Amino acid sequence: MTTESVFSASGFDSSLSGAEPSDLPRYTLGQRLRSGYYALWYRLGEHLRWSRGVYCEQPVGRLVLLSRGQQARIALLRRRFDLRFEKHCAALTAIKNYDYFDMLDQAWMAWGEPRPAGGVVHDVGASNFWYVRALHAFFQPVELTGIEVEGYRISANGYSRWDYAQGYMQDLPGTKFVVADYAAYAAPADTIVVWYPFVTPASVLAWRMPLGLFAPRALFARMASNLNPGGVLVMVNQGPEEAECAAGFCREAGLLFRSSCQPLALLRARRLPPVISIWSRR
Ligand SMILES: C[S@@+](CC[C@H](N)C(=O)[O-])C[C@H]1O[C@@H](n2cnc3c(N)ncnc32)[C@H](O)[C@@H]1O
Repeated sequence: MTTESVFSASGFDSSLSGAEPSDLPRYTLGQRLRSGYYALWYRLGEHLRWSRGVYCEQPVGRLVLLSRGQQARIALLRRRFDLRFEKHCAALTAIKNYDYFDMLDQAWMAWGEPRPAGGVVHDVGASNFWYVRALHAFFQPVELTGIEVEGYRISANGYSRWDYAQGYMQDLPGTKFVVADYAAYAAPADTIVVWYPFVTPASVLAWRMPLGLFAPRALFARMASNLNPGGVLVMVNQGPEEAECAAGFCREAGLLFRSSCQPLALLRARRLPPVISIWSRR
């Protein structure tokens, strides 16, 4: 992608993703400049496909310095599900895995349906797949794929998301990490999970990504078409306002609302309360 194409009329580069111009509001000059800058890094990552080798976190072994609330909730999750994320991950990653697992558990409790076990699970926008253990423990999938469009983004230590993902997936059967735009990823799934999908241009820029990747209609249409009959889409959004906006895209894609939950207590504090909703095919 050239700098010119990013700066074109709406700041939209149609060579990125399957974005529809109708998704795109008018952007300010500041937004377009930022988008252009992020687009250069994005393209560089795509071309380099950088890997410094598998990155393996040093497992912390035992979690310390937890608040009373955290201790109680983690102890409960360990008892109910036999979880031990700290045996595989650094302290912060382990706590974050308990946190994601806990959110899924609360969402299913609120829905009142049995947890899906087995089957094919897609995680859309997996970042470096730091929470693959939480997903694996919760869904007990036959196949679990994390799909990330910017899978070669490089961290300050020189390792890419790809490198981290390989380390996080180690010893987890049936897992894989695919660098791809999910809007163009045609593969059936029984469960699709999407944490904080981009439903506004501001969120794309906040994640240091080019606005050409903002294509919510194409993304939600793909999630709907990939979902097997009887399967579910699990979506997590930041706050009720974003959840409502994302729900509009779900409905437009033909998905049927099943349940929604705003967890009462969370293992990690957040500025906006997460809203977890569950959707199925009509
Ligand atoms: C808000 S972040 C959430 C990351 C991760 N799921 C988490 O919970 O920490 C959204 C992620 O989705 C990725 N993403 C955005 N659009 C995508 C697409 N069309 N296909 C695949 N990944 C996408 C972004 O690169 C980013 O890593």
